[in-house]
Amino acid sequence: AANAQWGGRFAAGPSAIMQEINVSIGFDKALWRQDIRGSRAHAAMLRTVGILTEADHEAIASGLDAIEAEIEAGRFAFEPALEDIHMNIEARLSERIGEAGKRLHTARSRNDQVATDFRLWVRDAIDGIDAQAAALMRSLASRALQHASDVMPGFTHLQTAQPVTFGHHLLAYVEMLHRDRGRLADARRRLNECPLGSAALAGTSFPIDRRMTASALGFDRPTRNSLDAVSDRDFALEYLSALSILAMHLSRLAEEIITWCSAPFGFVRLSDAFTTGSSIMPQKRNPDAAELTRAKTGRVTGALVGLLTVMKGLPLAYAKDMQEDKEPVFAATDAAALCLAATDGMVRDLEARTDRMRALAGSGFSTATDLADWLVRVLKLPFRDAHHVTGRLVGRAEARGVALSDLSLEEMQAEHPGITAEIFDVLTVENSVASRTSEGGTAPANVSAEARRWLSELAEA
Ligand code: ARG
Repeated sequence: AANAQWGGRFAAGPSAIMQEINVSIGFDKALWRQDIRGSRAHAAMLRTVGILTEADHEAIASGLDAIEAEIEAGRFAFEPALEDIHMNIEARLSERIGEAGKRLHTARSRNDQVATDFRLWVRDAIDGIDAQAAALMRSLASRALQHASDVMPGFTHLQTAQPVTFGHHLLAYVEMLHRDRGRLADARRRLNECPLGSAALAGTSFPIDRRMTASALGFDRPTRNSLDAVSDRDFALEYLSALSILAMHLSRLAEEIITWCSAPFGFVRLSDAFTTGSSIMPQKRNPDAAELTRAKTGRVTGALVGLLTVMKGLPLAYAKDMQEDKEPVFAATDAAALCLAATDGMVRDLEARTDRMRALAGSGFSTATDLADWLVRVLKLPFRDAHHVTGRLVGRAEARGVALSDLSLEEMQAEHPGITAEIFDVLTVENSVASRTSEGGTAPANVSAEARRWLSELAEA
């Protein structure tokens, strides 16, 4: 039989394959709350401008309440033959209240309806991800405060570079997440316009009040161009872009946690709650949550690339291709939310092996730059010359298989006669980090002040 919602001009129903490729209820039922919310706002507006009678509006409003209760209780029969969430709810409404239900779709199309529902959904998703990102920042900042003066090796090229503090390293991720939240907030600002009233693509001849529906749904204003409003999905792409960058940050932290947990590093021990064992090797404690975070964040990037690819060839206005916008956004949101939760759990629980970090912080001639800086500061050597003298001292130490601080004063003076015993203080990792007091540097005093500043900023939010 022909479709009850749009089958007027059809003699026959769709083939089974047509139904299968067309149906979206399996995933877009996730929009049910937004769809009911949008319908409530639309019906109230139709009543206010006199398109619906008071009686019809009351029937629609209580019918929508009843449907909401049915779905909430798991008693709603989602019908694949009705294609999507919009027609499932509308058909059920007419089934419950008759004639009035069939008046709800006046001055509305599924095209502006789905664009509205989806914006509402993405807006909620942004708020959820933002709250999780803030929670992770709090966890990172409080661990940073705890480890503000614990020294670890800092790397460039994954080669020992200069000592830093573990707290400073953790706060680097707080900065990244702060920018991620800023990008999400930007996306939210731009998406917060209401497409409802754009109808199929051209607007409507009915005397609707778009400002009323926009404000009832918490939008800042109605969208300005009906063609754009039903055919743009850049709000979803912008969300996925911001989410992809956030996910990339989580993946980098996961990668570092995995490295830190390996025996040769041994910087970190994850809690039992965030570790798994091996079915063959009894000694193993595997950082699976970090590995899966590293892997699952790829889904977010995949969603972004997938949806960009769907959209890039579409002429204006709506095309059914756009029904494929939802699954990637839902999947990316689930993946990001789970990865944020797992990362937060690992960060809160992890045990920092500060003795091990400290031991490795001094290896690899990590304070060579401090020695060169001393030659500049105290002996007034030009930096280039100081770099050369220090390089020769590193060469000597390396040839003997010892650290810089194991060279005797005489050996030091052989490379530059002005060097005094003061140099041995300069070569300690504690002195090295304490000296990095420039704004944004790793000095423990800086790090604890920054951690405290973040904690109080995050407490206010
Ligand atoms: N299920 C559709 C989607 O998600 C709703 C809009 C359908 N509009 C249409 N004219 N067929 O995109």
